[in-house]
Amino acid sequence: MLKGKDILNTAQFSPQELNLIMNTAASFEKQVKDGNIIRNMEGKIVATLFFEPSTRTRLSFETAANRLSARVISVADAKSSSVAKGESLADTIRTVDGYADVIVMRHPMNGSAQIAADNAKHPFINAGDGSGEHPTQALLDIYTIGKEKGALGGQTVTLVGDLKYGRTVHSLSYFMTLYGNKMFFVSPQSLRMPSEITVDLKARGADIEETENLEKALAVSDIVYVTRVQRERFENPSEYEKLKGSYIINRALIDQAKKGITILHPLPRVDEISTDVDDYEGAAYFRQAHNGIYIRMALLALVSGKG
Ligand code: NCD
Repeated sequence: MLKGKDILNTAQFSPQELNLIMNTAASFEKQVKDGNIIRNMEGKIVATLFFEPSTRTRLSFETAANRLSARVISVADAKSSSVAKGESLADTIRTVDGYADVIVMRHPMNGSAQIAADNAKHPFINAGDGSGEHPTQALLDIYTIGKEKGALGGQTVTLVGDLKYGRTVHSLSYFMTLYGNKMFFVSPQSLRMPSEITVDLKARGADIEETENLEKALAVSDIVYVTRVQRERFENPSEYEKLKGSYIINRALIDQAKKGITILHPLPRVDEISTDVDDYEGAAYFRQAHNGIYIRMALLALVSGKG
């Protein structure tokens, strides 16, 4: 079903494809935990091109490739590649497409994923394009919700923080709409979800309430998804300084929230979740980061026809 396909955004997936990805990830998780050597991608080469900083996404893709017995070639820093010499993205991709069987890329420009996919014959996976989308993060987010909550759908979810520049929430909100979840969008006025996204989500049947009142949203939410204010997207550093502490989740706030609330965060956190929340049992963000390995194993294997 996904063989040969590019992964560019979250609106592209059918419910059947999502089921396949979730089931494949669960199967790989079991095999890894059972200590099996998995050879689905033996003889294949995965390229990871990261032209923006990353810890989890790059290392979990590379871990995933290694767990599948593929080999990895990597650019971890734009400064060390020919991009620094002025090479175009299209030319870089055409070249790497001649080396690898799957290409994974993160890039600071919105729309760069589409350009890359258009220039690659092999499957291409978007690992974050500017403030656009981050579909593989959203896939691991819903995998985590399924594991933490035992279900996907019929939930109330608060997305809080930088909804303007946060690509993870752009991607995740499409899945929440698909699964019929109610969403609260909580952000400072100047960091609201872009209107073209809310309009599109509503056309797809989304139930969205925009508010600046976090306490009220948390009182009725099953899940809160916290995001960092995306400093690197601000033209004016003083604007960032003004907004960075807008919403901070601490233990006192969680004690007043709906009982059993699950806390997610794509990480890295700066100060938007206090460390006194970390030992709350519903604080799932490090489990969430770990789940990225199995989702990325599923994606690499499925687009390669090796699921
Ligand atoms: C996110 C990203 O890069 O968009 N990080 C990640 O991939 N887990 C979130 C962020 O940087 O704030």
